[in-house]
Amino acid sequence: MTAPASTRIIATDLDALASATGRIAVLIGSDGKLGDGARRINKLTKGALARMIEGGALEGMKSGEVKTLAWPTGLKAEAVDILCLERNAKEIEARKAGAALGKLLDKGGMTVLAAQQRRPVDLMLGLILRAYSFTARKTGEQKTFGEVTLMVSKPDEVEAEVEAARAVAEGVFFTRDLVSEPANHLTTTEFAKRIKDMESLGLKITVLEEDKLESLGMGLLLSVGFGSASPSKVAIMEWNGGAKGDAPLALVGKGVVFDTGGISLKPAAGMEDMTMDMGGAGVVAGVMRTLALRKAKANVVGLVGLVENMPSDRATRPGDVVTSMKGDTVEIINTDAEGRLVLADVMWYAQETFKPRAMVDLATLTGAIIIGLGHDNAGVFSNDDALAGAFLKAAGAEGEGAWRMPMGQSYDDQLKSQIADMKNVGGRPAGSITAAQFLQRFVQEGTPWMHLDIAGVASVKSDTDYAPKGATGWGVMALNRLVEDMSGEAK
Ligand code: BES
Ligand code: MN
Ligand code: ZN
Repeated sequence: MTAPASTRIIATDLDALASATGRIAVLIGSDGKLGDGARRINKLTKGALARMIEGGALEGMKSGEVKTLAWPTGLKAEAVDILCLERNAKEIEARKAGAALGKLLDKGGMTVLAAQQRRPVDLMLGLILRAYSFTARKTGEQKTFGEVTLMVSKPDEVEAEVEAARAVAEGVFFTRDLVSEPANHLTTTEFAKRIKDMESLGLKITVLEEDKLESLGMGLLLSVGFGSASPSKVAIMEWNGGAKGDAPLALVGKGVVFDTGGISLKPAAGMEDMTMDMGGAGVVAGVMRTLALRKAKANVVGLVGLVENMPSDRATRPGDVVTSMKGDTVEIINTDAEGRLVLADVMWYAQETFKPRAMVDLATLTGAIIIGLGHDNAGVFSNDDALAGAFLKAAGAEGEGAWRMPMGQSYDDQLKSQIADMKNVGGRPAGSITAAQFLQRFVQEGTPWMHLDIAGVASVKSDTDYAPKGATGWGVMALNRLVEDMSGEAK
């Protein structure tokens, strides 16, 4: 697994600055005043910072912007990065500023002078989240990130918080690695193995194999995997850090390790992107990792449906009718609308088995959500205003975009089938909503439920606030916070 850069929290040591290697980051607010550390850097560089200020080089800098003084005289460091950030900047602002430093981090490491900063931990989290590179499938020189030394005034207080922030970063990196992996490496079997490996963190892991799924009656999920040589599986991760007997929150993820579309084959152009079609399952696994690492005081169960959607002589055909674990039958109009089939059975199983207090599913479910919301916001669908509201608040606090979408009976009507209880697609209009309506048919009376369509945000083609282009890990932080908020864990 790709590990976040190592971090060291120490009390400010101005005398160590002259000989510090790698990069040194100093913070400057809009008042243009230099803190103790920056003043020492200025002195060591024979007034270089003061000259930058006098010369206007730092004028008009926006929060999170960096100006670099390269190969400064008087220092061993290779660069001084001057980061614009107010002392009392809010969480998200501090994280984004940290990410600007993370973008500059290289193998030499970085010393960050954050003594006057009110949120050094958020600065650090942004920094390590941005310093990510997926190199597992490259040979030759690997991009590595050196140690980050954070100089603060109260290292003991900051240290404990940094531990929690590292648990978050590790969850996010776990998700990004899974999403980045190509499908010949991340097969259903390999995915289940990586989940099983989290037993060492104190999670209870169960993997249901095909014969078990068959006896449970998961005809929808199994029908998706018929064409693949890789066996379909459901992996279950239980974290019981809360009160005994408290109903858990259930997180359900779509884990299509590759989506060719099946017999309703996708066009060739861009099909390689469908290695990320297990993104929902990736987020669920990442959240569970974070919860275990930070020993969350909450009961949460993660369930992922792991399948591969391939065409073959055994693959499901358009026109086939398959039966769900719930008992309802589905006419398959388009074998490319497979994610909802996987989720429907896993959601039903989750409710029957765990009687959750609430259920959240995540899936790279529809191309239509990208048309609607682009790459900045995931689509939020819910039967429960309180749950959706709590999530939108958590996502906002973490800087992860999410936008509520409508649902309703007339959308559901689009799923009517001539020969079965429903069709698996509702036509082109409102494609993301009819997909959500399909899922809602598998939500039991009284279960607060929310569906997150993450097709637009799981992996993107340009850098985001917290990640280089590629897998983002979107949702791990928001869901981790939702768990925290819902269980009343002290922050
Ligand atoms: N995995 C895709 C959705 C997707 C598209 C994810 C682009 C990420 C990027 C999903 O299984 C799919 O193929 N959906 C179809 C549904 C249609 C056949 C009703 C779609 O969106 O075109
Ligand atoms: Mn598909
Ligand atoms: Zn898919």
